[in-house]
Amino acid sequence: MTELIVALDNPDEREALALAEELMPAVDFFKVGLSLFAAAGPAVVDRLKSLGASVFLDLKFHDIPAQVEGVCRIVGAYGVDMVTVHTFGGLEMMRAAQRGLIAGASGANRGVPIAVGVTVLTSLDAGDLEATGVTALPQDQVGRLAALAEGAGLAGVVASALEIPMIRTITPKSFKVVTPGIRPLWADVGDQKRVATPAEAAKAGADYVVVGRPITGADDSSEAADRIIEELVLK
Ligand code: C5P
Repeated sequence: MTELIVALDNPDEREALALAEELMPAVDFFKVGLSLFAAAGPAVVDRLKSLGASVFLDLKFHDIPAQVEGVCRIVGAYGVDMVTVHTFGGLEMMRAAQRGLIAGASGANRGVPIAVGVTVLTSLDAGDLEATGVTALPQDQVGRLAALAEGAGLAGVVASALEIPMIRTITPKSFKVVTPGIRPLWADVGDQKRVATPAEAAKAGADYVVVGRPITGADDSSEAADRIIEELVLK
Protein backbone atom coordinates (compact mmCIF):
# COMPACT_ATOMS: atom_id res chain seq x y z
CA MET A 1 0.00 0.00 0.00
CA THR A 2 1.54 3.30 -1.13
CA GLU A 3 0.41 6.39 0.73
CA LEU A 4 0.12 9.85 -0.86
CA ILE A 5 1.78 12.84 0.82
CA VAL A 6 0.95 16.22 -0.73
CA ALA A 7 3.75 18.80 -0.64
CA LEU A 8 2.30 22.15 0.48
CA ASP A 9 5.01 24.26 -1.11
CA ASN A 10 2.92 27.45 -1.32
CA PRO A 11 4.53 30.00 1.05
CA ASP A 12 1.13 31.61 1.63
CA GLU A 13 -0.01 29.88 4.83
CA ARG A 14 -3.71 30.63 4.34
CA GLU A 15 -3.70 29.23 0.82
CA ALA A 16 -1.69 26.18 1.89
CA LEU A 17 -4.11 25.39 4.72
CA ALA A 18 -7.13 25.99 2.49
CA LEU A 19 -5.71 23.47 0.02
CA ALA A 20 -5.12 20.93 2.80
CA GLU A 21 -8.74 21.34 3.94
CA GLU A 22 -9.96 20.98 0.37
CA LEU A 23 -8.02 17.75 -0.13
CA MET A 24 -8.99 16.15 3.20
CA PRO A 25 -10.08 13.47 3.94
CA ALA A 26 -8.97 11.84 0.65
CA VAL A 27 -5.45 13.05 1.57
CA ASP A 28 -4.46 13.20 5.23
CA PHE A 29 -0.65 13.48 5.06
CA PHE A 30 0.97 16.80 4.13
CA LYS A 31 4.55 17.89 3.67
CA VAL A 32 5.72 21.22 5.03
CA GLY A 33 8.92 22.16 3.26
CA LEU A 34 11.38 25.02 3.34
CA SER A 35 9.21 27.74 1.75
CA LEU A 36 6.08 27.24 3.83
CA PHE A 37 8.06 26.73 7.05
CA ALA A 38 10.17 29.85 6.45
CA ALA A 39 7.03 31.87 5.82
CA ALA A 40 4.74 30.47 8.51
CA GLY A 41 6.99 28.91 11.17
CA PRO A 42 6.01 26.05 13.50
CA ALA A 43 2.43 27.38 13.84
CA VAL A 44 1.59 25.84 10.47
CA VAL A 45 2.39 22.41 11.93
CA ASP A 46 -0.08 22.98 14.81
CA ARG A 47 -2.77 24.10 12.36
CA LEU A 48 -2.35 21.02 10.20
CA LYS A 49 -2.32 18.76 13.25
CA SER A 50 -5.49 20.39 14.55
CA LEU A 51 -7.18 19.56 11.23
CA GLY A 52 -6.31 15.93 12.02
CA ALA A 53 -3.59 15.62 9.37
CA SER A 54 -0.23 13.87 9.61
CA VAL A 55 2.75 16.15 8.96
CA PHE A 56 6.03 15.49 7.18
CA LEU A 57 8.44 18.30 8.09
CA ASP A 58 10.91 18.33 5.21
CA LEU A 59 13.67 20.75 6.24
CA LYS A 60 16.50 18.44 5.06
CA PHE A 61 18.93 19.03 7.90
CA HIS A 62 22.60 19.00 6.88
CA ASP A 63 25.14 20.48 9.30
CA ILE A 64 27.65 19.37 11.93
CA PRO A 65 26.24 16.73 14.31
CA ALA A 66 25.84 19.12 17.28
CA GLN A 67 23.72 21.53 15.23
CA VAL A 68 21.56 18.78 13.78
CA GLU A 69 21.04 17.24 17.22
CA GLY A 70 20.00 20.66 18.51
CA VAL A 71 17.46 21.37 15.78
CA CYS A 72 16.09 17.81 15.99
CA ARG A 73 15.55 18.26 19.73
CA ILE A 74 13.38 21.28 18.88
CA VAL A 75 11.40 19.74 16.02
CA GLY A 76 11.06 16.46 17.95
CA ALA A 77 8.80 18.40 20.32
CA TYR A 78 6.51 19.65 17.50
CA GLY A 79 4.53 16.42 17.25
CA VAL A 80 5.27 15.92 13.54
CA ASP A 81 5.20 12.43 12.05
CA MET A 82 8.20 12.46 9.70
CA VAL A 83 11.34 14.59 9.24
CA THR A 84 14.25 14.61 6.77
CA VAL A 85 18.00 14.86 7.17
CA HIS A 86 20.58 14.68 4.36
CA THR A 87 22.39 11.34 4.38
CA PHE A 88 25.40 13.17 2.94
CA GLY A 89 25.86 14.67 6.42
CA GLY A 90 27.31 11.28 7.39
CA LEU A 91 26.78 8.57 9.97
CA GLU A 92 27.50 10.67 13.06
CA MET A 93 25.18 13.44 11.92
CA MET A 94 22.32 11.00 11.32
CA ARG A 95 22.86 9.38 14.73
CA ALA A 96 22.86 12.83 16.31
CA ALA A 97 19.56 13.59 14.55
CA GLN A 98 17.99 10.46 16.04
CA ARG A 99 19.23 11.35 19.53
CA GLY A 100 17.80 14.86 19.20
CA LEU A 101 14.40 13.64 17.96
CA ILE A 102 14.09 11.12 20.80
CA ALA A 103 15.09 13.71 23.44
CA GLY A 104 12.76 16.38 22.03
CA ALA A 105 9.78 14.09 21.66
CA SER A 106 10.11 12.52 25.09
CA GLY A 107 10.54 15.94 26.74
CA ALA A 108 7.26 17.07 25.16
CA ASN A 109 5.46 13.76 25.70
CA ARG A 110 4.98 13.21 21.98
CA GLY A 111 5.63 10.29 19.67
CA VAL A 112 9.08 10.25 18.07
CA PRO A 113 8.84 11.30 14.39
CA ILE A 114 10.34 8.87 11.90
CA ALA A 115 13.54 10.25 10.36
CA VAL A 116 14.19 9.59 6.68
CA GLY A 117 17.42 10.42 4.89
CA VAL A 118 17.53 12.34 1.62
CA THR A 119 19.86 10.44 -0.72
CA VAL A 120 20.34 12.04 -4.16
CA LEU A 121 17.77 14.74 -4.93
CA THR A 122 15.35 13.70 -7.66
CA SER A 123 16.23 16.93 -9.47
CA LEU A 124 19.79 15.64 -10.10
CA ASP A 125 20.92 13.29 -12.86
CA ALA A 126 24.31 11.63 -13.43
CA GLY A 127 25.77 14.78 -15.06
CA ASP A 128 24.67 17.02 -12.17
CA LEU A 129 26.19 14.57 -9.67
CA GLU A 130 29.46 14.45 -11.57
CA ALA A 131 29.65 18.25 -11.51
CA THR A 132 29.69 18.02 -7.70
CA GLY A 133 32.62 15.60 -7.83
CA VAL A 134 30.54 12.44 -7.32
CA THR A 135 31.47 10.15 -10.21
CA ALA A 136 29.25 7.24 -9.06
CA LEU A 137 26.00 6.71 -10.97
CA PRO A 138 22.90 8.02 -9.11
CA GLN A 139 21.76 4.43 -8.49
CA ASP A 140 25.08 3.45 -6.86
CA GLN A 141 25.31 6.66 -4.85
CA VAL A 142 21.73 6.19 -3.59
CA GLY A 143 22.59 2.61 -2.58
CA ARG A 144 25.64 3.72 -0.64
CA LEU A 145 23.74 6.48 1.14
CA ALA A 146 20.75 4.22 1.89
CA ALA A 147 23.05 1.66 3.51
CA LEU A 148 24.63 4.44 5.57
CA ALA A 149 21.19 5.69 6.67
CA GLU A 150 20.14 2.20 7.67
CA GLY A 151 23.37 1.76 9.62
CA ALA A 152 22.71 5.02 11.45
CA GLY A 153 19.28 3.77 12.54
CA LEU A 154 17.13 5.97 10.31
CA ALA A 155 13.67 4.62 9.50
CA GLY A 156 14.11 5.03 5.75
CA VAL A 157 15.25 7.19 2.87
CA VAL A 158 13.97 9.59 0.25
CA ALA A 159 14.86 8.31 -3.22
CA SER A 160 13.43 8.21 -6.72
CA ALA A 161 11.23 5.32 -7.84
CA LEU A 162 14.04 4.18 -10.14
CA GLU A 163 16.16 3.15 -7.14
CA ILE A 164 13.53 1.37 -5.04
CA PRO A 165 14.18 -2.20 -6.27
CA MET A 166 17.91 -1.79 -5.53
CA ILE A 167 17.22 -0.30 -2.05
CA ARG A 168 14.96 -3.27 -1.25
CA THR A 169 17.84 -5.68 -1.89
CA ILE A 170 20.15 -4.00 0.65
CA THR A 171 17.81 -2.95 3.48
CA PRO A 172 15.34 -4.74 5.79
CA LYS A 173 11.66 -5.01 4.82
CA SER A 174 10.62 -2.43 7.41
CA PHE A 175 12.90 0.25 5.85
CA LYS A 176 10.71 3.01 4.39
CA VAL A 177 11.17 4.52 0.95
CA VAL A 178 9.65 7.94 0.37
CA THR A 179 9.52 8.86 -3.31
CA PRO A 180 9.26 12.38 -4.77
CA GLY A 181 9.75 13.21 -8.45
CA ILE A 182 6.29 11.83 -9.18
CA ARG A 183 4.85 12.89 -12.50
CA PRO A 184 1.60 11.44 -13.83
CA LEU A 185 1.61 11.23 -17.63
CA TRP A 186 -0.63 14.32 -17.75
CA ALA A 187 1.68 16.58 -15.66
CA ASP A 188 4.69 18.80 -16.50
CA VAL A 189 8.08 17.47 -15.41
CA GLY A 190 9.40 20.93 -14.35
CA ASP A 191 12.79 20.82 -12.56
CA GLN A 192 12.58 17.12 -11.65
CA LYS A 193 14.82 14.68 -13.56
CA ARG A 194 14.61 11.15 -12.06
CA VAL A 195 10.82 10.92 -12.39
CA ALA A 196 8.19 8.15 -12.37
CA THR A 197 4.42 7.99 -12.64
CA PRO A 198 2.37 7.24 -9.48
CA ALA A 199 1.65 3.74 -10.84
CA GLU A 200 5.34 3.06 -11.50
CA ALA A 201 6.30 4.22 -7.99
CA ALA A 202 3.60 2.07 -6.40
CA LYS A 203 4.59 -0.93 -8.47
CA ALA A 204 8.24 -0.44 -7.49
CA GLY A 205 7.13 -0.61 -3.83
CA ALA A 206 7.28 2.99 -2.57
CA ASP A 207 5.85 3.30 0.96
CA TYR A 208 4.99 6.96 0.32
CA VAL A 209 4.90 9.15 -2.76
CA VAL A 210 5.37 12.90 -2.34
CA VAL A 211 3.51 14.97 -4.91
CA GLY A 212 3.59 18.74 -5.15
CA ARG A 213 2.96 20.68 -8.35
CA PRO A 214 0.93 18.04 -10.24
CA ILE A 215 -1.68 18.56 -7.47
CA THR A 216 -1.00 22.05 -6.09
CA GLY A 217 -0.69 23.57 -9.58
CA ALA A 218 -3.67 21.75 -11.13
CA ASP A 219 -6.83 23.64 -12.11
CA ASP A 220 -8.75 21.19 -9.93
CA SER A 221 -6.42 19.95 -7.16
CA SER A 222 -8.97 17.53 -5.67
CA GLU A 223 -9.53 15.88 -9.01
CA ALA A 224 -5.75 15.62 -9.58
CA ALA A 225 -5.29 14.02 -6.13
CA ASP A 226 -8.13 11.56 -6.81
CA ARG A 227 -6.60 10.54 -10.13
CA ILE A 228 -3.22 9.95 -8.45
CA ILE A 229 -4.76 7.94 -5.59
CA GLU A 230 -6.60 5.83 -8.15
CA GLU A 231 -3.31 5.12 -9.95
CA LEU A 232 -1.64 4.17 -6.66
CA VAL A 233 -4.40 1.73 -5.80
CA LEU A 234 -4.72 0.20 -9.27
CA LYS A 235 -0.98 0.22 -10.14
O1 C5P B 1 6.27 19.77 -7.05
P1 C5P B 1 6.98 18.45 -6.91
O2 C5P B 1 6.03 17.26 -7.03
O3 C5P B 1 8.19 18.34 -7.78
O4 C5P B 1 7.45 18.46 -5.39
C1 C5P B 1 8.29 17.48 -4.87
C2 C5P B 1 8.55 17.78 -3.42
O5 C5P B 1 9.41 16.78 -2.90
C3 C5P B 1 9.21 19.14 -3.17
O6 C5P B 1 8.59 19.67 -2.02
C4 C5P B 1 10.65 18.81 -2.88
O7 C5P B 1 11.20 19.62 -1.86
C5 C5P B 1 10.57 17.38 -2.35
N1 C5P B 1 11.76 16.55 -2.54
C6 C5P B 1 12.28 16.25 -3.80
N2 C5P B 1 13.39 15.46 -3.91
C7 C5P B 1 13.98 14.96 -2.82
C8 C5P B 1 13.46 15.26 -1.53
C9 C5P B 1 12.33 16.05 -1.45
O8 C5P B 1 11.72 16.68 -4.82
N3 C5P B 1 15.01 14.13 -2.92
